[in-house]
Amino acid sequence: MVEILPSILSADFARLGEQIAALDAAGCSMIHLDVMDGHFVPNLTFGPPVIESLRKITKMTFDVHLMITDPDRYAPAFIQAGANQVLVHQEVCPHLDRTLRMIQSEGARAGVVLNPATPVFMLDEVLEVADYVLIMSVNPGFGGQRFIPNALEKVRALTRKKRERGLQLPIEIDGGITKENVADAVNAGIEWVVAGSSIFHSVNPVAAFTEMRQIARETATVRV
Ligand code: DX5
Ligand code: ZN
Repeated sequence: MVEILPSILSADFARLGEQIAALDAAGCSMIHLDVMDGHFVPNLTFGPPVIESLRKITKMTFDVHLMITDPDRYAPAFIQAGANQVLVHQEVCPHLDRTLRMIQSEGARAGVVLNPATPVFMLDEVLEVADYVLIMSVNPGFGGQRFIPNALEKVRALTRKKRERGLQLPIEIDGGITKENVADAVNAGIEWVVAGSSIFHSVNPVAAFTEMRQIARETATVRV
């Protein structure tokens, strides 16, 4: 089932709980939480305490995107705080196989992320280990950036590899997704769509979420 994952990076942090509860009530089942350390990316966000607080108000799946230089050190704290899924960047994991298995042994699903400049073949040896893959369609660090079209080529390449190897792993996309390009992402093979500014910077975030989900799911029903 295709899912839209609102990214709270673009939410109103003074009304975060309220905005998440409204999405929950609208049937949103997964939410994307961007953790930035000011080193791997030129921006800072939040750590485990925010996730721990949000965990108390919803049962939605928390998809935690670690844009930090040392995910091995911090991933367990995020899982203890309530992350159901943890994403690490291939670019900062010299022992990626070990990192993914560590996340799984701590009790979360393990995802791996590729920056726009990182080719898909970098994952050839871990596709059987990872639970899912995220293709960045912007350079990470900020919401509201323009979609990089080459990401779709990478999604298609990964979709082909999945089929060749008989793998189920969902492919996620993150960055610059709007209601205008979400169908292209789904047609390329995307199952999980992250959307930040196009949801939270709209007048009615729940309506924007619902509309995007409808477009994505209608596209998926005719996808071959
Ligand atoms: C960017 C983050 C994204 C961000 C996407 O580094 O990883 O999750 O919130 O925001 P939009 O959808 O506005 O591009
Ligand atoms: Zn993200």
